Amino acid sequence: MAESNNQEVYRASTYAPVNIAVIKYWGKRNTTLNLPTNSSLSVTLSQDDLRTHTTASCSSSFTDDTLSLNGSPQDIAGARTQACLRELRQLRKDVEAQDPQAPKLASMKLQIVSENNFPTAAGLASSAAGFAALVRAVADLYHLPASPTDLSRIARQGSGSACRSLMGGYVAWEKGKQDDGSDSLACEVAPANHWPEMRALVLVASAEKKDVSSTAGMQQTVATSTLFEHRAKEVVPKRMRAMEKAIHDRDFAAFATLTMKDSNNFHACNLDTDPPIFYMNDVSRSAVRMCEAINFSHDKLVCAYTFDAGPNAVIYYLDEHENEVAGTFKGLVGGVKGWEGKRGQAVKDGAKLPEGTE
Ligand code: ADP
Ligand code: DP6
Ligand code: CO
Repeated sequence: MAESNNQEVYRASTYAPVNIAVIKYWGKRNTTLNLPTNSSLSVTLSQDDLRTHTTASCSSSFTDDTLSLNGSPQDIAGARTQACLRELRQLRKDVEAQDPQAPKLASMKLQIVSENNFPTAAGLASSAAGFAALVRAVADLYHLPASPTDLSRIARQGSGSACRSLMGGYVAWEKGKQDDGSDSLACEVAPANHWPEMRALVLVASAEKKDVSSTAGMQQTVATSTLFEHRAKEVVPKRMRAMEKAIHDRDFAAFATLTMKDSNNFHACNLDTDPPIFYMNDVSRSAVRMCEAINFSHDKLVCAYTFDAGPNAVIYYLDEHENEVAGTFKGLVGGVKGWEGKRGQAVKDGAKLPEGTE
């Protein structure tokens, strides 16, 4: 890979998975550091299906930092991306200070090339997988002795939800108390193999870029919704504890009830925003009705819908109900106008931990 003795190109590649929250993050108390108003909890999906692949390179021959996403140049100068790169370079400088033989990578320009194999900015957590992959690719390139927790603190500054994609299984993002964000981190509530029967079916209603980004949407909600205050102070803290218990007890009925209630409460806050934000559409609502109908026909909760900031549905269910849930959805959505590019995703063998450097 060496182009010449002093212009060697150093490179590392990694994959990162998406995570879909069952207790949603929505609202920042500090927009510079991405510190959330409330804690949140998600399931990391298998990267067999939806994933980001990112390669980071550096060389003294590069003249600028660059970022490309799905083949298009991106603005790498944004404050959030820069915050991640600044922290990673500082950690690399620490490595170089301790080992004078280590190549001086921190001062070289970076080329970052990323591909999402699923819709970007459509409510399927592209910013989560994207910033998790970016941070880990650069950390691998720099051979940093950083733990997933350290990396989650850095990735959080790129996109809040990204901090949860650095861990597998069932992951909480504790909002933390410190003003500097040092305790606003992701932590594993349970590993994937604690409840390996969990499955997620991803239904793509629209792959279009959303009108209102998550960052802008949550700021409008914080500024204008009274319902949001109630959500952040009263609803979410109790729900976080109840959801952790549901996961520890592997209680699908409790998990499903909380998941659907939290998705609806989050979308109600968007409706209560001025001007109102509509992430779900008619097609999304048809998925809610299908889910309700499947649960009604089984006389128990066998599936739970959730929608992030976009119209696309994620349906959680247990493997024993694969035919009733995934089978029914696939049969039904096949005939429903508006559902396109649908894909089923099972959290096979539990959500896999992200792979390391290729
Ligand atoms: P989503 O619901 O997909 O997370 P967001 O509005 O939160 O949507 O964020 C979308 C933005 O995240 C994109 O416009 C882009 O700036 C950033 N993003 C998405 N994927 C990547 C990636 N692989 N690498 C870097 N940034 C990414
Ligand atoms: C609805 O993490 O995308 O998906 O921190 O501004 O980048 P920024 O927002 P982002 O918001 C995610 C919101 C959500 C819920 C969740 O993932 O918890
Ligand atoms: Co996002």
